[in-house]
Amino acid sequence: MTRTLDAAHSAPGAAPTDRTVRLRAAWSAAWDLGDVDALDELLSPGYVRRRGPQSVEQSRQGFKDSIRAVREAFPELRTEIEDLVEDGDRLAIRWRSTGRHTGPFLGVPATGKPVEVSGATFARFDGDTIVEEQVTFDSRQLLEALGIITTSHGAAVEPDLVRGVHRKFITGVTVVTTDDEGTPRGLAVNAFSSISLDPPMVLVCVQRSSTTHPALHRARHLGISILAADQLDVAKTFAGKSEDKFADIQWSPGAHGAPLIDGSSAQLEVEIGERLEAGSHTIFTGRVVSARHDERAPLVYSGGGFFDISNTAPLPW
Ligand SMILES: Cc1cc2nc3c(=O)[nH]c(=O)nc-3n(C[C@H](O)[C@H](O)[C@H](O)COP(=O)(O)O)c2cc1C
Repeated sequence: MTRTLDAAHSAPGAAPTDRTVRLRAAWSAAWDLGDVDALDELLSPGYVRRRGPQSVEQSRQGFKDSIRAVREAFPELRTEIEDLVEDGDRLAIRWRSTGRHTGPFLGVPATGKPVEVSGATFARFDGDTIVEEQVTFDSRQLLEALGIITTSHGAAVEPDLVRGVHRKFITGVTVVTTDDEGTPRGLAVNAFSSISLDPPMVLVCVQRSSTTHPALHRARHLGISILAADQLDVAKTFAGKSEDKFADIQWSPGAHGAPLIDGSSAQLEVEIGERLEAGSHTIFTGRVVSARHDERAPLVYSGGGFFDISNTAPLPW
């Protein structure tokens, strides 16, 4: 028989059981106040938490660590238990969490945005303690609230068609870099643009899945090296995923510490201003704080290929 034991939802006269009272107390202490050790009373030492369609597993300690991390990003977090249903050793909990994003989360710095996530947890007790839980929630709700993904409007135009359009736009190739506490990091980027000359501002778009992305998010400055026509090998290195892309590359730190690629046709250092979450990318805007260029012809990227334009004839204009 299934009974609803939440006081607000239960049949008149039904009293909450010891298990539901203890669960409410431990959840409130852990999620709302950050006292994650309160869960030790409720969760058995061998507790396993399975999350999402892939049933990603978490131990009791891993769960406690993840609550701490969530609370660092959302310190005002409040979790409300909206319904509790008990059936023998099983307990189903429908919950809703609200908070404000005031600390870094999933590589995204504080957005100040309010978020709301709801889901359900299915717990199995063995005696006094929970031995396993299955948790389901709509992570898209959270990712969308933080601007990490957009689900509300589907693609109006086929991605292949858009890709074809972009192939008609000729760009240079830059290497966007940063100093990550003494370790140089970087990736090849052609989504680079001037924003304004006065004040001198530029932008770059970096995919959030890039391994350089977290370092760029932490950084105060980034470097942009516009590659020269003879630096195709450098472009390939930085478009790849090798652990130490800088190992065989000549580079020097700029005046503000950003790694700059030697032999490139132009270099900038940028003090990062805004980090705008857009689709799958982050747009980093910033003020140019150092710059140099020389006579080397730039490497050109067009239609998926690389070109040397030093031998092309200028059109009359
Ligand atoms: C010509 C060219 C242009 C690219 N432009 C961009 C870009 O604008 N933004 C981006 O995020 N990735 C861009 N990429 C892809 C990244 O360089 C590539 O995914 C790289 O492996 C990321 O490295 P990381 O994960 O080590 O940071 C470009 C690649 C090439 C070859």
